[in-house]
Amino acid sequence: MRTHLCGLVDEALIGQTVTLCGWADVARDLGGLCFIDLRDHEGIVQVVAEPEAGVDGNAAVIAAAAAVGYEDCLRVTGQVRRRESPNAKIPTGQVEVVARRIEVLNKAEPLPFHAHENAGEDVRLKYRYLDLRTPQMQRRMRVRTRLVRALRRWLDDAGFQDIETPVLTKATPEGARDFLVPARMHPGEFYALPQSPQLFKQILMMAGFDRYYQIARCFRDEALRADRQLEFTQLDMEFAWVSERDVQDATEAMVRAVFREVVDVELGEFPRISYAEALRRYGSDKPDLRIPLELVDVDAQVRGSEFKVFTDWAGVEGGRVCALRIPGGAMLSRKQIDEYAAHAAKYGAKGLAWAKLAEDGEVSSPIAKFFAEDAFAALLAHVGAGGGDLVFFGAGKYATVSDFMGAVRLRAGREFGLVADGWAPLWVTDFPMFEWDDEAGRYVALHHPFTAPAVDDEAELRGNARTAVSRGYDMVLNGNEIGGGSIRIHRSSMQSAVFELLGIGAEEAQAKFGFLLDALKYGAPPHGGIAFGIDRIAALMAGTDSIRDVIAFPKTTTAQCLMTGAPSPIPEAQLAEVHVQVLKKQ
Ligand code: AMO
Ligand code: AMP
Repeated sequence: MRTHLCGLVDEALIGQTVTLCGWADVARDLGGLCFIDLRDHEGIVQVVAEPEAGVDGNAAVIAAAAAVGYEDCLRVTGQVRRRESPNAKIPTGQVEVVARRIEVLNKAEPLPFHAHENAGEDVRLKYRYLDLRTPQMQRRMRVRTRLVRALRRWLDDAGFQDIETPVLTKATPEGARDFLVPARMHPGEFYALPQSPQLFKQILMMAGFDRYYQIARCFRDEALRADRQLEFTQLDMEFAWVSERDVQDATEAMVRAVFREVVDVELGEFPRISYAEALRRYGSDKPDLRIPLELVDVDAQVRGSEFKVFTDWAGVEGGRVCALRIPGGAMLSRKQIDEYAAHAAKYGAKGLAWAKLAEDGEVSSPIAKFFAEDAFAALLAHVGAGGGDLVFFGAGKYATVSDFMGAVRLRAGREFGLVADGWAPLWVTDFPMFEWDDEAGRYVALHHPFTAPAVDDEAELRGNARTAVSRGYDMVLNGNEIGGGSIRIHRSSMQSAVFELLGIGAEEAQAKFGFLLDALKYGAPPHGGIAFGIDRIAALMAGTDSIRDVIAFPKTTTAQCLMTGAPSPIPEAQLAEVHVQVLKKQ
């Protein structure tokens, strides 16, 4: 249908006749002279319909051009010539196509939104095909394609074998709720969609495959956010006969290579910090190292005060009192400080104490009255605060304080323009093996239950479960967890011990993971791996905050597809076939 692509018409084609297909991006009728910006996936070129010497003076073409509307599908044949007034903003801006023939292949009705306006996300998602047609979305989706292509090429060169694993399977716990599929042939039984291919990839190592990868869809029924979807895509990898350093070195080299290839970025050093250090310094296990602010523990400096909120937690096991100095923050008004407190409250803060230092060193703070004057000065000095600074304080449970002070750090970093340009990758290591779940009254796995503990001895693990460290690791980039993995348990007895500590009894373990426990008995090699969030990496590369922008057909935060209308009710007869009865909504 076409000889060239709109966005690729260039000066080399001057004098030639081309046939182009595309959408009418903008059409201007200047009365006897019409301009059309013709757009395809490569870009835009200007088409002009003008009077010419000839039989009808080009009247038919001018009439056709005058009738063109926004997003009409056109086929245009014409001659390329140099433009009188070039447009430096577009790659084809030196040339234009003088139309000899304009065919309207399909007329577009008035559109629900105009690509040149900032339409709301709901309407964009409902008419996703129109949204995806925009140059911005075309560019983002192409970044994703290039990412996947670069990954596959690297993996292929490195000898990884691409193996598919089932989507209709048994539950694999990754900490979310499962999506279930009724099994028609087994009344009352269900398949689960995989939260990840975790167990299958481990079994593949036991099955003699040395290096596995899969670009795998994962399904997790969890609360959605900008960086979370119900179904998302992992680059899933597993290696036999490795230690954590082998996995980390190989995948770090891969990530470096694809960033270089896809977005021409040199990622630089990947520092390694432990989970404990990440929480202590940044209040997060996925710290954004582009922000130069750090939390400072102040237990010793507040212990002698009369502020009960601080003394209740200072130096107490499981408690934390820390400060965050914001250089130049004294300019914030009371109202703005309250906004920070409201932000912290979303992360569980019961309050957010603060102290302001005026340029002349005068201190104002709602908590100064609880301190002897020199003690408060010593506290501020410990934090490094000087004239013009603002200091926030958090006190409470260690995890809660880290979380809300980490959130305050991110907000301050952004609002004070402290986020450095560029890329800040790192490895976070030495995660705790377990977290105590107060509600459930038992341990839960911080990674997943197949992650090996740092200690090799079951008795030692049982004796020190609360403080046990795992062999898990995450890759973090600019404050996003882009990958997570671990060295796995490869002995059946250790796996059973971990199940037991997680409150999974022998019978339940056999019923849920019997195949794994069996496979571990027959010469399972030491193995480990990692999975990367392709959507998250693509979003970072495309420069967008939301993974929905790099997924062709994403769900909303309320877990719906606005284009198809999924999820939707199913007729009773069809449900009966799969032996399902729906409880009436309350
Ligand atoms: P994990 O649960 O850490 O590990 O997932 C790996 C990576 O997948 C991405 N990710 C998500 N992306 C979008 N939406 C989601 N809901 C979502 N959940 C996770 C993140 C994350 O780092 N089986 C293990 C991996 C292993 O141990 O090898 C696993 O799935 O970028
Ligand atoms: P109050 O005496 O209750 O008004 O508290 C004095 C200051 O301490 C206020 O600015 C509160 O926001 C702050 N505050 C209260 N609880 C906490 C807490 N857990 N961590 C940090 N600051 C707090």
